[in-house]
Formats: sequence, structure tokens, C-alpha cells
Amino acid sequence: THKIILDTDPGIDDAMAIFFAFQAPEIEVLGLTTVFGNVPATMAAKNGLSLVELAGLDVPVTQGAGMPHVGPESTYAHFVHGDDGFGNINHPAPKGKIDPRSSAEFIVEMARKHPGEITIVAVGPLTNLALALRLEPQLPSLIKAVNIMGGAAFVPGNVTPVAEANIWNDAFAAEIVFSAKWRVNMFGLDVTYDLPFPPNFVDILAEKNPTLGGFVAKSAQFYMDFYSQGLDERRCFFHDAFPLAYLLDDSLFEMTEGQMRIGTDPLHIGQTSFAPIGSTMSEHWTSMPKVYVATKVDHPRLTQLFIDTYDK
Ligand code: BDR
Ligand code: CA
Repeated sequence: THKIILDTDPGIDDAMAIFFAFQAPEIEVLGLTTVFGNVPATMAAKNGLSLVELAGLDVPVTQGAGMPHVGPESTYAHFVHGDDGFGNINHPAPKGKIDPRSSAEFIVEMARKHPGEITIVAVGPLTNLALALRLEPQLPSLIKAVNIMGGAAFVPGNVTPVAEANIWNDAFAAEIVFSAKWRVNMFGLDVTYDLPFPPNFVDILAEKNPTLGGFVAKSAQFYMDFYSQGLDERRCFFHDAFPLAYLLDDSLFEMTEGQMRIGTDPLHIGQTSFAPIGSTMSEHWTSMPKVYVATKVDHPRLTQLFIDTYDK
């Protein structure tokens, strides 16, 4: 089995990904470390706990960073995920308690406890990971891999023409994370925007798994309204589940090796500039560690993996 820490800002596609991880027998979720992003940090933590309780599990949930390393408080993405982060569905507040450790402390503590065994799956801004690297500079040698949903290597961004939301929310943290000497696998808009999900996809999840899939189907309605503006057909994207799917079956993706730099000047803030190894650009950033960027995904097999995993 794969031990993971799921670093998240729930969030509708976060919820879909969290349940996907809970449902996969090959994945052991050590904790949900939450962070600001789609919603403020306090709401992200409460939402994480609500999802754990809905799944009937006892997984620790920590509250993390509330602001980026540099720059003002985020503007959040309530227009995508609703006032509550779950598409305004009036889901009841959680009953349990948020773990007293900060998300960065939790990451460091677990990494020391299970050296070399943990994959961090990061599907929100990278602030907690950068803080954890500050707390424990040896962290890269204690972590197996970091699978990130974020960035846009060869396609436009979704917040600015060049920046994807998770990286844009804390570009300086992202530069720290991409500069660290651990194995980074990036799943950005290159693959996640390549696979739109029609309304019947969430209906199937709900039919296979009325509790968890039912929650996703309900909360995804608001999310689909956002993603379908100006289109004839409704659809949405489940970005955050991609780095988890890679853990279960890496043959679903084509990965391209290269070096990554993150834009931190105002015009390019959050841009993921990628130099594939062997390209004419690759000689420029040779001091940067190698990263692996998903550039292609098998649509039918990934869709089937989501459905089969919810159906348990
Ligand atoms: C990413 O931004 C968030 O809105 C989603 O949850 C996902 O992690 C997509 O750009
Ligand atoms: Ca997210």
C-alpha cells in the first residue's frame, strides 16, 4: 500500500479526490493537511473534517497556512466552489475536532516516523509544503515522492494567461517546493483540462456509492454551472484526483522529464516554465532538480478507474 498525506483546500474536486483516496484499498491516508486556497484556512480544515466524518473514518485533519509566503491574503475561489466550498449544499458542520498540530508540523512528524515511505499528494497551494521544508531541511530525503496537482506546462493558465490557481496562490512556495531535491510528479492543466466530465459521470459515482458519490454529485452541480458558462453542454473537471490516480496506475500517464522554474515577478506570477530534458532550453536550468510533468492521460481508463474505485 501507498502511505500518503493529502494536502488539500476542499473544494469540490478536492472532495472528489479525497473520497477517491479513501476508497482505494491500495492507499493509506495518514492525514488530511489543509491549507487556504479555494476557501480560507479555517473553512478548509472544517471541510476536510466533514469529509472524513461523512466517510465514517478516523483520519486526522490539520489546519494549515492561511496566507501565501509573499503577498496579500488570497481572494479564494468561492465563485467556483460556492460560499461553503461544497457548492452551497448546506452540509452540516463537523462534530469532531481539528488536530492541534499545524499542517507543516504534521507533515514533518509523519515523515520522521515513516522515513522514505510517504508520498505527499498536494492538491492546493504549496504553502504547507514550503513551510515543512523550512521546519525540516532534510524533508526531501524522508519523503518518497511529491505528486502535485498544479501548474500548466504547455497550456494556458486558469487564473491568468500563464498561471494555474494552486501555483498562482503561492508562487514563492511553489518555487521552494520545485527547487527541493525530492521526486516531484506534476499533474497540471495539461492533463486535467484535457478530460471534461459530463453530468452523467457524477450520476454514475452517486449510483455506485450513494454516500460519497452522492455527495460529489450534489456539490458538483454548482461547480458545473461555473465550468459550463457559455457552453451548450454541462461539464466539469476533477483536477485533484489525477495525482492520486498516478499512484494507483502510473501507466495511465505519459510523463515528460525536465526542469521547472516558477514565475515570481508580477506579470508571470505563478507561471510554470518548463524545460524538457533534451530540448534546446534544457541547458539553462541544469542546477534545478529534475521534475516529471504529466503530458498525456488515457481518458477511458482513468474514467473507469474513478468509477471502479467509488464502486466499493
Ligand atoms: C486547482 O485549483 C482549485 O480550484 C482546484 O481545487 C484544483 O486544485 C485547479 O486549478
Ligand atoms: Ca484543490
